[in-house]
Amino acid sequence: MTSSSPSSPWSPPAGVSLAWLLLGLFALFLSGLFAIVLVVLRTPFLSQWLGNALPFRSALVLHVDLAVAVWFLSMAGFFWSWLQRESLWSWLAWGVATSGVLTMLVSPLAESGVAVINNYLPVIHAPLFLGGLAFFVVGVAGSAALALWPGNDRESTPLAWPLRAAALVTFAALLVTGKTWLNLPQQWSVDSHWFETLFWGGGHLLQFVHTLLLIAAWWVLLRPGRESWFRWSTLLAVVPVLVALPLSWGLAVDSPDYRAFYTDLMAYGSWLWLFPTLPLLVREGKGKGVVWASAVLFVLGIGVGVAIRADNLVVTAHYHGTVGGITLAFMGVVLHLLRPQRTDGIKVYGSGLLLLILGLLWAGLGGAPRKSIFSHLPESTWDTLLPLLLVGVGGLTALVGLFLFLLPSLAALLERLNLGQRAPMWQGGLAIVLVGVVLQWFPAHPVASLPTPTVAQPQPQEDPELRLRFQQGAMMLHAGEYEHAVVAFHEVLSKNPRLPEAHLNMGYAMLGLQRYEAARDFFLGAVDLRPAQANAYFGLAEAYEALEDLPAALGAMRTFIHMTHNKDPFLVRARAAVWEWEKSLKEPKGPVKLPDKH
Ligand code: HEM
Repeated sequence: MTSSSPSSPWSPPAGVSLAWLLLGLFALFLSGLFAIVLVVLRTPFLSQWLGNALPFRSALVLHVDLAVAVWFLSMAGFFWSWLQRESLWSWLAWGVATSGVLTMLVSPLAESGVAVINNYLPVIHAPLFLGGLAFFVVGVAGSAALALWPGNDRESTPLAWPLRAAALVTFAALLVTGKTWLNLPQQWSVDSHWFETLFWGGGHLLQFVHTLLLIAAWWVLLRPGRESWFRWSTLLAVVPVLVALPLSWGLAVDSPDYRAFYTDLMAYGSWLWLFPTLPLLVREGKGKGVVWASAVLFVLGIGVGVAIRADNLVVTAHYHGTVGGITLAFMGVVLHLLRPQRTDGIKVYGSGLLLLILGLLWAGLGGAPRKSIFSHLPESTWDTLLPLLLVGVGGLTALVGLFLFLLPSLAALLERLNLGQRAPMWQGGLAIVLVGVVLQWFPAHPVASLPTPTVAQPQPQEDPELRLRFQQGAMMLHAGEYEHAVVAFHEVLSKNPRLPEAHLNMGYAMLGLQRYEAARDFFLGAVDLRPAQANAYFGLAEAYEALEDLPAALGAMRTFIHMTHNKDPFLVRARAAVWEWEKSLKEPKGPVKLPDKH
């Protein structure tokens, strides 16, 4: 495409803006690779086959961070630097952001951390990963600052409206996150609830940044005659944020009002800008299939959002509608500007995402939980199987579409970066880096080693409400959401304090929270109520080991080995632990008495 073509707003992107685009497409590629893990583990049959071999939680953290944070905010860097005069500062911002992303990706080589799957910005709780994420954010903030710098524009264009507004809201999101960090209760332990609260306000405001970038992408694709609608859309997308900031400033960050405030801001303020925009699509959108497709997905996502009634896959369907619509529009801009040889990937991607969203919605309306491996679901009937099969088919189709889009686009981008002749070398190099980065996340994290032998289920005669609450707790336990699991089992135990399974699962939730004394007490409670409960001794041994009471740990683990069946998948680990503890205690072999209850 030559610079003089009437369809581009001004001279085509070059230099640092293409470098941001490269970072964005790299992140989308990787996020897609991690989505393969998620789709496989959410899909019936595939999940049973690969259930324990793939690290679901780390894959979810990386899928979300690389897509929602790195892909979207790199596209922000692309648009902002397309708007600005190129300078050393704009390259510095890109350099800092890119080094941050690379640090996040290689962090498992130097450290191991727990994958914390809180909402909005899940993290790997480890210094290098968090440091890399912070670096990325600093780089993006640098590019946003340059976009707001007066007189730095390359040319005047109405596109500056949504892009400047997006830079402004980015700083609002950083401000709110900073303020929250300073006001988080000191006594809170740094766990998923801590991270969820830290990113709650800023994470919600970030959705408004993404919306403003969507408006910019539609403008590049539509190039409408009248620019007034454009100003109205930008205004209606940014005003709710400007109103929200002072209103939320006085709210305590650990209060339910604070959480509800941002959920309401999203529910009532994130779609007002569609009013002046949709009529324009009707008038100017003819022949602009990608704009229509992204609008349909986005509006579907908003619509599904209204149907959210509980913390289940309806939420995930809502996400993939809105972020899928935005991603499709960005892909349209890439095809429009780079004109790669192949362009059909985007259609396959869009149709796959639509199936994925419908599958997630259907499964969610049936109560299927978020962030859980299929094979860990309590029971599978056709009601749960069919929707999750649709998730699998839709997800894999979208992934095929994604890679069909990315490979020719990356080749065209390397060409544009004058790396054309060496494109095959660059592509080869990039592919090796990509595979290397993904493989080192397998099976690095210890999280995979903490699953409970078998999460106990209550006896059938229990009341259905209690049973449901118990199952929710069991699912959160499997998903590693230990705080939420503790809340659920507390409720169950308050209604039925003599339920051995609830004591047992509470013990494992406490282990997950590294509250070892409480864990020991709950396991002893379970053993009290049902001495034959083998997996309580496994947990008890782990609690005693963490409390450095090896003789007691040894006793408990020997009892587990003695009582469990020989097909128990945890037998190998139990024997290894006994061997290790005996060696370190230099204790003679043979049966020992059970640890005393304290
Ligand atoms: C090829 C396309 C994609 C596929 C197949 C895919 C698949 C998935 C799957 C299977 C999950 C896990 C759901 C669960 O267990 O709860 C997930 C979660 C998520 N994905 Fe995607 N995804 C895709 C694209 C994207 C994009 C482009 C974004 C954002 C830009 C995105 C953002 C998210 C978020 C935020 C979550 C977490 C949802 C939650 O917290 O419940 N995904 N994705």
